[in-house]
Amino acid sequence: MTETPHLTVVDHPLVQHKLTLMRESGTSTAVFRQLLREISQFLAYEITRGLPMETKRIETPMEPMDAPTLAGRKLALVSILRAGNGLLDGLLELIPSARVGFVGLYRDEETLKPVQYYFKVPEALEDRMVIAVDPMLATGNSSVAAIDLLKKAGAKNIRFLCLLAAPEGVARMKEAHPDVPIVTAALDSHLNENGYIVPGLGDAGDRMFGTK
Ligand code: URA
Repeated sequence: MTETPHLTVVDHPLVQHKLTLMRESGTSTAVFRQLLREISQFLAYEITRGLPMETKRIETPMEPMDAPTLAGRKLALVSILRAGNGLLDGLLELIPSARVGFVGLYRDEETLKPVQYYFKVPEALEDRMVIAVDPMLATGNSSVAAIDLLKKAGAKNIRFLCLLAAPEGVARMKEAHPDVPIVTAALDSHLNENGYIVPGLGDAGDRMFGTK
């Protein structure tokens, strides 16, 4: 794992192998979705390292013990629509009791600024670890806007999970939300003139849902 305070790149061989399969343009929609689900669980493992723990008294078949267990409020997973849902599925398999929220944003074609069209999040965000998920951290505009909204709704302990990041998006997030750590599977080279990550994997939503 390569780590800086703000960005963690999970360079585990299985993650990198699966990511290469995802990048290949011949990979089918079904396989792409399955790989995303699998990688999301490795990323979740890293991003939840700091979850608070407590012990509880249990009985094993051998003897009683004080065993570690998660403490505090259930964490909140927040999908940034629509591509975030591809990561959400895998995370929910790993953390089935997590609460779930959704943020919908579209880009105004005149101002090029993200505009909110949907926002529904669990109660008591201020007491939960909140993991915002979006596979592609490209310009960072929608991620920054989504995190603005989550902070407005009370969230204080936010992390951002993505599959691929561009240096431009990481810099934008660091400037706007230096308190939000990012976990990703790869930091790619740059954005092209259309805001796509290069070498990237194309449009993540289209590839996972089979749209074009
Ligand atoms: N969104 C995508 O789906 N792909 C990119 O490369 C950038 C943003």
